[in-house]
Formats: sequence, structure tokens, C-alpha cells
Amino acid sequence: MSYDIKITKVEKSKVSEFDFDNIPLGRAFTDHMFVCEYANGQWNNPRIEPLKQISMHPATMALHYGQAIFEGMKATLDINGNAMLFRPEKNAHRLNFSADRLGMPRFPEELFVEGLKKLVDIDRSWIPTQKSSALYLRPFMYADEPFIGMRAATHYKFIIIASPSGPIYNKRIKLYAETEYVRAVKGGTGEAKAAGNYAAAILPTEIAKSKGYDQVLWLDAHEFKYIQEAGTMNVFFRINDEFITPSLDGAILNGISRLSTIELLRDKGYKVTERLVSMDEIIEASNNGTLQEAFGCGTAVGVAMIEEIGYRNQTIHVSKDNPVGKMVMETIVGLRAATIEDKYGWIVSV
Ligand code: COI
Repeated sequence: MSYDIKITKVEKSKVSEFDFDNIPLGRAFTDHMFVCEYANGQWNNPRIEPLKQISMHPATMALHYGQAIFEGMKATLDINGNAMLFRPEKNAHRLNFSADRLGMPRFPEELFVEGLKKLVDIDRSWIPTQKSSALYLRPFMYADEPFIGMRAATHYKFIIIASPSGPIYNKRIKLYAETEYVRAVKGGTGEAKAAGNYAAAILPTEIAKSKGYDQVLWLDAHEFKYIQEAGTMNVFFRINDEFITPSLDGAILNGISRLSTIELLRDKGYKVTERLVSMDEIIEASNNGTLQEAFGCGTAVGVAMIEEIGYRNQTIHVSKDNPVGKMVMETIVGLRAATIEDKYGWIVSV
């Protein structure tokens, strides 16, 4: 099905003013945005228009009750300058999983992908060509009804904005295993990409940073024993030759980088197990020298190698070498740049 997306372009692009050698993280935005509104039980008026401020009533429900969800994706260029997306249908699907959990309307998945493609095509001159850089895409949906009563809103906006992005971590990272605050519980919203999950993470992350760490390692809410996620990433540990990642239990984000990493590792012949993984197991593996690698993965960050974990006044060291983590990183970067052949069918041309 093809949608009628109305297009209004800027008179003059701002791209020539942008310094691609000095990309400010998440602060610069392309010329256009995709917008669609939900009212009377349906999505209306899909369009691409010049990026501009959005005005809202002070009683807009998203501001009060947090009905707000988002996705994170990246567009890249191949050596011939063709724009590409990475598994966009997975993001479209996850957005609707999040929408269901927050009592929001589903957004048509074909329109999600078509809107993305059109926006990326129009703003393709904003896609950086530097290694590990990309055009970060941020589809999001929020309750746009002015109402103080507590119920599901009847009006929503779905918007996609785009921002050129460079690599986030150029170093191995240090994690602080949090034993006071939690990110999410089973039955909560942790598996959805809900804005509120990130709000809950801000204070603990600031505290971890003030202690010299880069990110929080989130633990389960009941015993602070089992590992969930690392900052805004899913996490993998290699003990001997087995890769272990926490199983999706309703509290953990179902990451598309997580899925791709599992599939890639299995394809390369590694054993990957999705299961409960406890801090005690990681401490023991570190002590007996079998903790070979640890890394986090997510769209914005890519793959971030973990150097150490602070936990209840002790420091857990991870082996310095990350051969397999680096292979995963290089493969995903290579697939995104089309310097590695996409035998997985993950890349979608714009
Ligand atoms: C992403 O990795 O795309 C995310 O959504 C994390 C974001 C908070 C930067």
C-alpha cells in the first residue's frame, strides 16, 4: 500500500553551514521532519515539512501523564552515495509494542517505513560519511490532547526528526552496578521504549557519573542480583567461549542491536545463551579469569566495550582484549556502510 505523503521543502537547506568534522551529539537537526496526527480514531495528513517548533497547550497530556514513546535508528550511505536503513521494520514493530503497552494507538508500520525513507531521501545530504557516523533518526509519538483527566488520550502526534551523529564512546567504559535505584520491573514499562523509562534513569546516571563511571549497570528490582541492561544499551558477557545476555523478561528492552548481535554471533559460530545472569557469576568469572569480554550495544552508542564494573565497593575487571566485541562492532559498521556484503538482508535501500 502506498501512502499519500504531502511534501513541503525548505527554500534553502542549512546543510552547508554544518561542520561534519565536528558533529555535536544530538544538537543539530536536518531541514525537514515527518509529521502525522491521530484524531477520530485514525492517523491523518502524513506530511514532510520544514523542521519547526511544535506548539502545545499547557494541559497536553503527554506532559502530565507521560504517554510518550520513541525509537532510535540510523541512516547511512554506501560508497556510491545511496542511503540505507538498518532493519526499519523492526523499529516500526517495536513502536507498536510500546504503543500497546502505553495505551496509545498503533501507527501503520508501512507508513512508518515509507515516512522514514522519504525523510531520509529528502535530507540525504545530511548523512555523514565519516566512519561510525550516521544520520540518527528519532521517530516518536506522544499524547497531544489538552486534558487534565487521567485516561488514554484521544489525540496523538507521530513525528520523525533526524540529527547527524558521530561515534559516542571512543574508549572502554566503566559501569556502576546500581543497588538503590531500578530502571524497570517485570510488568512495568521496561520492555517498551517509553520516555518515562529514561526519566527514571537520569538521576542514577548522574550519580554514577559523579562517581567517575560512564553508565549505570541496571539490576533486577527484587534482589539487585541479576543484570538487566547497561545504560541505554543491552549487555553481553563472554565467559570462556559462551556469550550470555539477559533474557527478555518483560523488564528489558528488546533491542534491535541486541537481536542483531545474537544473530551475528550465532552465524559466526559462537554459542549465545539468553538467560538470567547474576552479579555473583560475573564476579566469579572475573576472579577466575574466564570473563573474556563484556560489551553493551544499542543504536545510538553502537558497541561499547566494558572495562570494569563497580559493585558494592568492589571493582570487577574485564579482560582487556575485546576481539569478538570488535568483530561485532566492525561488522555492524561495515554492513551499514555496505563495505560488508549484507547476507542477512538487514539493509533496506531508501
Ligand atoms: C538509542 O540507542 O537509539 C537510544 O534510544 C538511546 C537514546 C537514549 C540515546
